[in-house]
Amino acid sequence: MKRFGRMGAMFALTLSMVMLGACGNNNTGNTATTGNQATEAPAVANAGNTKEAKDITLGFSQVGAESGWRSANTKSIQDSAKETGYTLKFSDAQQKQENQIKAIRSFIQQKVDVIAFSPVVESGWDTVLKEAKDAGIPVVLTDRAVDSKDTSLYITFLGSDFVEEGRKAGQWLSDQYKDASEDINIVELQGTTGSAPANDRMEGFAEVIKTNPHLKVIASQTGDFTRAKGKEVMQAFLKAHKDIDVLYAHNDDMALGAIQAIEAAGLKPGEDIKIISVDAVKDGMQAASEGKINFIVECNPMLGPQLMEIVQNVVDGKSVEARIVTEESTFTSEQAKEALPSRPY
Ligand code: AHR
Repeated sequence: MKRFGRMGAMFALTLSMVMLGACGNNNTGNTATTGNQATEAPAVANAGNTKEAKDITLGFSQVGAESGWRSANTKSIQDSAKETGYTLKFSDAQQKQENQIKAIRSFIQQKVDVIAFSPVVESGWDTVLKEAKDAGIPVVLTDRAVDSKDTSLYITFLGSDFVEEGRKAGQWLSDQYKDASEDINIVELQGTTGSAPANDRMEGFAEVIKTNPHLKVIASQTGDFTRAKGKEVMQAFLKAHKDIDVLYAHNDDMALGAIQAIEAAGLKPGEDIKIISVDAVKDGMQAASEGKINFIVECNPMLGPQLMEIVQNVVDGKSVEARIVTEESTFTSEQAKEALPSRPY
């Protein structure tokens, strides 16, 4: 079994990035390593020893199946593992941290080569990550980050910059209302409480809109990234506030649920209430192309090919960048209409 963080650096090869041709607009869903954030991942003890794909076992703990984005992400990982020839042990945590911890412990017991997971929330991972490290099993974070201070507990984090996604949403809104002379009332549907995308998308959005004193968040509540919860919370918002101008939803699924609530209340989504969301999955892009969502910030779920390349490099003892950021685009209604026919997920 491989050990990491103990044997000193052996190889310093930079991970070559896989280009994904997955996204619409001017964007190809590529990823890039971020210059100033990137640091060397811990060295692996068997550096230089390669293992054939068919002999590699990857344990992957997925958040759940809460959204269209998540389904696309799961498919990307399962398809890529199959194409690469790895044995994939896949576990669905149903949005529960305790299930992810159980899955990681079971991967450790089964002595998989690499553990990858998308942490449902940011906090509370140190103990189990330490167990993986003590067992000599490298861990790769995909999609979502953890807030562990000890970054030697994982090799790399592959995924989006969620703060930047929130900023893009805020910037579009700020531009729309740059000449506003009265208050613009915003309601916010947050993702899963304590999750990195919910925390960061809220932070990035708030950071930008505070520069315009007329932009006011009058209510903000979790919709758990699901359509059903998005609808339920929007119904409550509409009951409590008669003067909502804008909805900012942390993902398409919640926006789509909210659209149902807005229409049921006799209002026109995209006109009476402007809508901004994140993800750009097909259903969201469809709603945007119909003018029901005004602006979507893309979050790319097609992380499978890159994850497989990272796994091979880790097993081979090559070093990888400590942070690999997914490149993403944005879509207005017009751009969504254009991109929709070739949208792969
Ligand atoms: O972590 C990524 C987020 O999780 C996506 O934006 C959301 O749709 C999903 O459930």
